[in-house]
Amino acid sequence: MPDDTLWAVEPHTLAKHEILRRYLGAWFGIMNRYNRSLLYLDGFCGPGQYKDGEPGSPIIALKLACDHVAALDAATTFWFIDHRPDRIEHLQSMLVELEWPSNFTVSVDCGEFEDVFRRRHDTSKPELSLPPTFAFLDPFGFSGMPYELVARILACQRCEVFLNLSVNSINRFLEHPNDKIRDQILQAFGTEEVLAIPERDGDRIEAFRLLYQAQLENAAKFVRFFEMRDRRNQIPYYLFFATNHPLGFEKMKEAMWKVDPDGDFAFSDRTDPHMEALFADDCSADMARVLLDMFSNAESTTAEAIYEYVVDRTPYLKKHARAALRLLESEGRIEVGDTKVDGGSRRQGTFPHTALVSFVPDAEASSSG
Ligand SMILES: C[S@@+](CC[C@H](N)C(=O)[O-])C[C@H]1O[C@@H](n2cnc3c(N)ncnc32)[C@H](O)[C@@H]1O
Repeated sequence: MPDDTLWAVEPHTLAKHEILRRYLGAWFGIMNRYNRSLLYLDGFCGPGQYKDGEPGSPIIALKLACDHVAALDAATTFWFIDHRPDRIEHLQSMLVELEWPSNFTVSVDCGEFEDVFRRRHDTSKPELSLPPTFAFLDPFGFSGMPYELVARILACQRCEVFLNLSVNSINRFLEHPNDKIRDQILQAFGTEEVLAIPERDGDRIEAFRLLYQAQLENAAKFVRFFEMRDRRNQIPYYLFFATNHPLGFEKMKEAMWKVDPDGDFAFSDRTDPHMEALFADDCSADMARVLLDMFSNAESTTAEAIYEYVVDRTPYLKKHARAALRLLESEGRIEVGDTKVDGGSRRQGTFPHTALVSFVPDAEASSSG
């Protein structure tokens, strides 16, 4: 855990920022269209800059919104919180260099995220009142980000959370004799089940990931994780994204696929970034197998239902579903009605939402193919 005001950026931090940048590029535009006020909350914002000048998350978010292709006119608040006065001071010195439109408000607080948040939003009430929010919670370690608060934010309409779960430090401290430290881990997970993980066989890091994912799934409809590995090939943290919105989920998955084109939802500091394109597999065959498993027993189904399943329930994207449908059609594994359910006709190799897709039983497909 760096002690200096600024520290050197790690490759996995750059990957995290790339996901953030790509997602926010979509989020600001989409949310601005449908809402009159928005909140970008950066609860563990850091100093806004790394040692060699790379921007930190608050500056990335603010600049992205200022430079957005479409002028954003919703009243948008950027709320930055960090408990280190020196880091907040550095952030302030960066903010004075920037200009933003009059509908943006930038609010900076020095203090513990949880305290600052609860001071502004009365968490004793059954429901929080938040505008549509993207909350980025990126602490070092596990303290100060209680699950209860994460779940409260997710319970608000159109609020979503992108957070860092530091599984490596949780693993190191879980059996610490100091009750206070164990209690912080308990708060982070919001369930005593975490305390039983050391007694179980198997991969503890994976067990933390699965438990936290299950907790988030109690609070949000859609949850995705992204694995970060350091140079020693250890997993310092998982990034989790949780939302109730299918479009947000789709956009976040797209952002993550861009950072890891293999579709493993993982980034390693050991990976030579120039090699990534070489390893970017064509995943059509895998996607096709998933579709066959899911739909081959169904009557014909619309392309829309297939896209919805793929985007909401699998790691894949809509473009992968289209590529898999093209592959299945070329292999004679599906038949696609030449007329769509709305009566229009479709072009070969295209799969508009209303196209009717029938899966050909195995035996027939192999005799014809
Ligand atoms: C990983 S860094 C944040 C980096 C930043 N999000 C970025 O991407 O550029 C974590 C920051 O959280 C701050 N921090 C740690 N515990 C905190 C707490 N309980 N409340 C607020 N800030 C905290 C640290 O001072 C540090 O600056």
